[in-house]
Order: sequence, then C-alpha cells, then structure tokens
Amino acid sequence: MIIGVLKETQKGDNRVSITPKIAQQLIEKGFEIRVEENAGVNSSYKNSDYSKSGAGISSKEDLFKNADVLIKINPFDNKELKSLKKGQIIIAQLFHKSHPKDMKIISKQGATAFSMDAIPRISRAQDMDVLSSQNNLAGYKAVIKGAYEMTKIFPLMMTAAGTISPARVLVYGVGVAGLQAIATAKRLGAIVEATDIRSETKEQAESLGAKFILVDNKGEESEGGYAKEASTDYAQRQKEAVDKSLFKADLVITTAMIPGRQSPVLITEDQVENMRNGAVIIDLAAAQGGNCELSKMNKTVIKHGVKIIGTTIAPESVSTNASDLYAKNTFNYIVHLTEGHTFKWDLEEAITNDTLIVLKGEIRQNGKS
Ligand code: NAI
Repeated sequence: MIIGVLKETQKGDNRVSITPKIAQQLIEKGFEIRVEENAGVNSSYKNSDYSKSGAGISSKEDLFKNADVLIKINPFDNKELKSLKKGQIIIAQLFHKSHPKDMKIISKQGATAFSMDAIPRISRAQDMDVLSSQNNLAGYKAVIKGAYEMTKIFPLMMTAAGTISPARVLVYGVGVAGLQAIATAKRLGAIVEATDIRSETKEQAESLGAKFILVDNKGEESEGGYAKEASTDYAQRQKEAVDKSLFKADLVITTAMIPGRQSPVLITEDQVENMRNGAVIIDLAAAQGGNCELSKMNKTVIKHGVKIIGTTIAPESVSTNASDLYAKNTFNYIVHLTEGHTFKWDLEEAITNDTLIVLKGEIRQNGKS
C-alpha cells in the first residue's frame, strides 16, 4: 500500500504530517511511503532525510495518481479534492461539520475520508489526539508570545538596584492549552491564577502551581470533558470572582472554547478599561470569535492601555515539534486502523466509527463535531 505525504498548502503552515522517523517506522510496518518534494523543508526535514529513511520523493501529480492513501494536516483544498481518485483514502483534519461542501466533493469523487480532528476524547485514543498534541504547544507558545509583548519580566529578581516583583498571569480555560500555559508561566517564575467552568480542573491547575479561582457552576453542564455554553448568571458570577485578579494581571491568556460554537465572551470592554496599563491579553479563542470582546483574529488591538492579541498561535510557529507530535499521532492512528498493512474497516469500533466521515463515496452521519 502506497502512502503519499502531501506538502501543506495552507499559507504559513510549516508543518508536515509525517516526519522521516515516522516514515521509517511505517516502512518497517510494510507500507511504501512517498513524500511530496519539499514537504518537510519548513519543519527542518530535507528531502534527503526522507530518502535516508527509505521513503521516495514524488511530485504531487504522482501522489494523486498512484497513492492509495494521501495524508495531510489541514483540510484538502478544492483543487486537491477534485483530483481525488475513486477508492483513494485521505487522512487529515477535515473539520467536516464546518466543511460540508468538501465532504460532498469527496463523496462525488468516490473517495474515503478519515478526519483526525474527530478522534474521540477517550483514554485509549490519547496517543492519536492531534488536537491535544498541537494545543499543548499553543499553550506554551502563548506564554512565550506574552513574555515578548510584555514590558515586564516574569520572575522575582533581587538586584542591587532594587527588587523586581514577579509578573501576574491569569489563565481562563484549563483545558489542554490552558494547562500548558500555566506550567510554562510557572516555570518562568510568574504568579499564576486560573479559572474554568469545569470545577474538576481545579485540582489539575493547582497541581501545576496555579491558584484556582472557583466560580459557583451550579446548573452548568459539561459533556465528555467539554464545557457547554455558560448561562448569563454564570458569566456574572465569573466576573465577580475573577475581576480582582484580572485587574491586577500583567498577562492574561484565554483559551475557553465550546466545541462547534462561538467562543464565550469572558472579558468585556468595561473590564479591559479597568485592567493595568501595559497589560497583555493573548486570546487563543480568537478564531471562534474570541474570549475578549475587543479581540480581532490575527490582529493586535491596543485599547485602554491594554494590548489584545487575537490568535490561534497555531503550532506551525514551532513546526518541528508540532510535526514530530502530529506524525506520531498519525502513526498510532494508522496502526490502529490497519492490520498488517491493510485497513480493517472495523465500523463497530469507536475511533474508526467517529473518524470515518466518508466511506467509498458515502457520507456517514456518525462522526462527531
Ligand atoms: P477546549 O479547547 O474545548 O476548551 C478549553 C477550556 O475552556 C475547557 O477546559 C473548558 O472547560 C473551558 N471553558 C469553556 N467555556 C468556559 C467558560 N465560559 N468559562 C471558563 N472556562 C470555559 O478544551 P480542550 O483543551 O480541548 O479539553 C477539553 C477536555 O478534554 C479536557 O477535560 C481534557 O482533559 C479532555 N481531553 C481528553 C483527552 C483524552 O482523553 N483523549 C485528550 C484531550 C483532552
């Protein structure tokens, strides 16, 4: 079976879905690997690194013509979708709920599509979970970006010229990115506080050294570890509990998201007005509307003396690590889906069932969002 590794076409995405090390491991499992020319070059992997690992270097045309399986990180673009052959299998993050037209094209082409963003959040799927592996890096990078934008340093420092007090960091949303942001800010020496609508995150935040700001979440629901939309009552209680810390913070990192919905607004303009002059907000939820009312995606807004940076801090900015982790997730996923080196098509099994979005041209309804 030939697996083709495509170069990412999304502007600015330097990652690659399969690294030379993982290519070698797949070859050892009996797959033939062909990599599009220069697919890994922006993640520090040269064509010759892939060749040394036993993979072939191919043109895009060759891959679309001859590969049985095509792998990418981002959704296939229109031209790529229309180049799919009947019976070809694609593996990528397809975000099928928000890209229904793409699914129709895949179906029309008679192809099969697995979507890695639909991997269920269950323990046995953890090593295939690309959302986690990439969000973890986003949490780290958010703190580094914040440090760069701030006019203060993180740690307490005693010098002959006086004592520098530690920076205060506040994290909204203690999911995968939030936990890594806490750990990173703490390692750099900041005083860290955090809050989340799911009270079970209190212990996780505290274990990393953050002070957890508990907000009464009576009546609020969560499902499978994911938050649901918060009530206006909760939002009011959250403001009352968090405002004191927000108004003292030097760096605020917001990561609160609700799958398939707009991100909740957790920081209004009124609140920004009361923040410290020179404070920085890194809003990781900006692509879904943002957790701060003033955020704009991919923009830095300066208002009331506060710098508000709307970003996803897509892990492509640390593309070598992001590719390494993504490739390992993909390897585990392929091993899970196959026996020997052929696909098992075990539709009774949850990971396969949730992620198999189009089967031989038929769009299935059971993938999760
Ligand atoms: P996410 O990116 O959907 O949201 C980030 C955080 O924001 C969540 O902790 C959420 O509770 C919080 N949030 C949402 N609305 C909020 C509000 N109004 N106010 C305050 N906080 C709010 O979450 P992520 O990072 O995808 O993780 C979700 C869950 O999945 C976590 O419990 C995580 O431990 C679990 N998980 C499980 C995995 C597995 O078992 N395979 C893999 C990855 C995550």
